[in-house]
Amino acid sequence: MIYSRIVGTGGYLPDRILTNAELATKVDTSDEWIVGRTGIKSRHIAAENESTCDLAEQASLKALEAANVDISEIDLIILGTTTPDRIYPSTACLLQARLGNHGAAAFDVQAVCSGFVYALSTADKFIKTGAAKCALVIGAEVYSRILNWTDRGTCILFGDGAGAVVLKPDSEPGILSTHLHADGAYKDLLTVPGQVANGRINGDGFTKMQGNEVFKFAVNALRNIVDETLQANQLDKDAIDWLVPHQANIRIIAATAKKLKLPMEQVIVTVAEHGNTSAASVPLALDVGVRDGRIQRGDMLLLEAIGGGFTWGSVLVKY
Ligand code: ACO
Repeated sequence: MIYSRIVGTGGYLPDRILTNAELATKVDTSDEWIVGRTGIKSRHIAAENESTCDLAEQASLKALEAANVDISEIDLIILGTTTPDRIYPSTACLLQARLGNHGAAAFDVQAVCSGFVYALSTADKFIKTGAAKCALVIGAEVYSRILNWTDRGTCILFGDGAGAVVLKPDSEPGILSTHLHADGAYKDLLTVPGQVANGRINGDGFTKMQGNEVFKFAVNALRNIVDETLQANQLDKDAIDWLVPHQANIRIIAATAKKLKLPMEQVIVTVAEHGNTSAASVPLALDVGVRDGRIQRGDMLLLEAIGGGFTWGSVLVKY
């Protein structure tokens, strides 16, 4: 049996930090409201000349270094993003060129905040079947570019960043299982509805969200995916050492931890400093937990995410 193993992680956040206090000078909100409802204190915002590919490049270089893998060894690049640099080529191809890789399969995955979980699941199948020997998997976003900075219901929630992992085959686990779902019936609860046509955006190019409805769906879907993941692996809740959740809202994270009966000390939480970085949030949180030494080799990790679509999913990893 071949498993895929995460052999290196990397993360990158743009320099500029936007605090709640600064946001409160732009829209009618307060630090108290944002922290109380979301747990977010600040977020990082990309510079005007920084793109998703730039952020992805920095995270990838760190992951490759941690894995001690040369870019020429990579034969698969999958990048989750909602904010690609161009309509095409894919940001994965732009990143490939930037990193100096030639010939690896490279493509983007669009599953919004679940983008990294979808990308990691896909890469896992390539490694498990022998179709790839060394994969670079990235979640990267300049989500700030699709926010209406006068809409206090959405602009307070998101930030920019990138996270990456390198995967290799191993006879030991590794990724134990992945679980992906979507339901397009919910397409209008969280969306950027505009379309590109005739050289411009037709309609609205900013994030539209029915926050309350998204919140309720997220809590429920993530509770269910915890059960699904544990049952598929015939594991009890106490088998999980670390929850590495999508960082949308501390209240959603706490509800998932409660379902797992995990104390918050066993949850990697970055939402206070990162906000919701969409596809970047899970790999960034993973990288934080690995680099600060909390996540150790052999630990059981539950990665989960939910995003526009709706899309949602989980990955169970013996790190
Ligand atoms: N500052 C101050 N007041 C605000 C703000 C703000 N930034 N935003 C909304 N309000 C007001 C509303 O106008 C409303 O006022 P009213 O009662 O006078 O009408 C009041 O606060 C309550 O608004 P709600 O939308 O009901 O607030 P809620 O408790 O649902 O919190 C929030 C809103 C934080 C968006 C929450 O619904 C949420 O986190 N939802 C999940 C959304 C999410 O995470 N999306 C990210 C992508 S999807 C994903 O990753 C899961």
